[in-house]
Amino acid sequence: MKICVIGTGYVGLVAGTCLADMGNDVICVDNDLEKLKKLENGIVPIYEPGLEELIKANTLEGRLKFSSDLDDAVKKSTVCFIAVGTPQSEDGSADMQYVMAVAESIGKAMNGYKVIVDKSTVPVGTAEKVTQTISHY
Ligand SMILES: NC(=O)c1ccc[n+]([C@@H]2O[C@H](COP(=O)([O-])OP(=O)(O)OC[C@H]3O[C@@H](n4cnc5c(N)ncnc54)[C@H](O)[C@@H]3O)[C@@H](O)[C@H]2O)c1
Repeated sequence: MKICVIGTGYVGLVAGTCLADMGNDVICVDNDLEKLKKLENGIVPIYEPGLEELIKANTLEGRLKFSSDLDDAVKKSTVCFIAVGTPQSEDGSADMQYVMAVAESIGKAMNGYKVIVDKSTVPVGTAEKVTQTISHY
């Protein structure tokens, strides 16, 4: 299956790598170019036992790629995971700006049937908002 994971942080990098190790073709997308450069050079920005080995093996096998091109990754994928941060706002609620920005970008990139997975920690009702945002395009 062709999958993209948008947001290559603690959650997205681990999920994307494990999905690649299961045999899927995965593109991990991020807008942090320095992070992407490190990952392309085999430098893993977080510590997770066994992760570095899995990234190396799956990159070598060509199943795991890193990219800043969200549009291209969405167009090539059937399943798109949203795994960007949802930091706590001052009032304690989740800051949804990154999730909604990604939903907008996915909407613009849509070129057919996709399964969109809200992997970020989000409040109830987010799936509907993400669907509405994507459908707007
Ligand atoms: N870290 C954990 O242990 C953990 C556990 C459970 C749930 N979560 C939830 O998972 C989600 C992700 O958390 P995390 O810790 O992986 O966050 P993180 O900050 O480590 O990673 C988020 C990544 O998203 C990228 N990003 C932001 N906007 C982007 C955009 N428009 N396009 C592409 N990339 C973009 C950032 O550059 C960053 O690399 C959050 O909702 C968090 O609450 C995290």
